[in-house]
Amino acid sequence: MRESKVKILGTGSSVPERVITNFDLEKMVDTSDEWITTRTGIKQRRIAGEGESTSTFALLAAQRALQAAQVSPEELDLIVVATVTPDMLFPATSCLLQRELKASKAASCDLEAGCTGFVYALSLAEKYLRGGGGEKALVVGAETLSKILDWQDRSTCVLFGDGAGAAVLGLSEEEGILATYLGSDGGGAHLLELPAGCSRMPASLDTVNNRLHYIKMNGNEVFKFAVKIMEEASLEVIKRGNVEIDEVSLFIPHQANIRIINSAAKRLSIPEEKVFVNVHKYGNTSSASIPLALDEACREGKIKRGDLVLLVGFGAGLTWGSALIRW
Ligand code: COA
Repeated sequence: MRESKVKILGTGSSVPERVITNFDLEKMVDTSDEWITTRTGIKQRRIAGEGESTSTFALLAAQRALQAAQVSPEELDLIVVATVTPDMLFPATSCLLQRELKASKAASCDLEAGCTGFVYALSLAEKYLRGGGGEKALVVGAETLSKILDWQDRSTCVLFGDGAGAAVLGLSEEEGILATYLGSDGGGAHLLELPAGCSRMPASLDTVNNRLHYIKMNGNEVFKFAVKIMEEASLEVIKRGNVEIDEVSLFIPHQANIRIINSAAKRLSIPEEKVFVNVHKYGNTSSASIPLALDEACREGKIKRGDLVLLVGFGAGLTWGSALIRW
């Protein structure tokens, strides 16, 4: 049997029009542009408007990725949407996307792995194609975190934003996805969670009054975990791909906090000019962060054919994942 190879054929992204700056937040909670900028590197974020939901941005990002890949929706065998903010708990947002795209032969499901969701989805879709599941897959990371943020909690509401990124994968003659690595540690589940609204704590007046339908996070513990795991996950995928870290042309880390990004890059001895950063424009967009950065990097001409791109993410779960891609 011919050994299957899988590559990224095209990328796309979409963000809401509405911009909320740190100065806007100063009017909403007890915070300052200075605090947010120095602690996180974030200057502004995009926030979904009235009537917009995760599928709004997932659809636009998907259409742009399909166009870049020159693949029609009918060719798709699989659609995976990574998200922690689906339109509804069910049906899956990927099914809503499948309907809008008219991707008639695609199997569709959502995947939830916190901010690592896109890397998980990329890795699983790649294995699905390699394993004979089909020829083309659409992988999307899409979020409207603004809908699950407590806009009275300054420790979380300043950090996150909305948006979507997508990639079309296809079987190919050349190897594109050289290696992936995924991991999790449920021992840290309590560090980042949305407590209510599902089977453990169904929605009630109490859960609403106690503001339990919003993101709760232990920022300091997540920070420590993030710095350590970004290094570990990067080194593991480099090893699996049988390359050296200095061969990496572009490092695209999860865009949560500039301090996390900088310390990971420093630990890995990756020079600043090889690190892609857009956290100042969008904040942390969870599953959307890496594909949004990947698409921007492509469209800005920062990735050329033959380049080695390293993606690495971490998030709620706790989860982490990395991918090494030959462009
Ligand atoms: N504006 C002003 N002050 C704020 C604030 C805000 N938006 N948010 C918190 N503070 C205050 C705190 O109340 C605390 O005050 P105190 O010392 O009087 O108690 C002080 O600032 C310092 O808080 P601390 O949590 O120690 O700050 P920090 O330097 O650790 O930065 C985070 C906080 C959240 C930015 C940082 O921990 C972080 O980025 N963690 C990782 C989060 C993350 O990436 N999550 C997503 C994972 S996918």
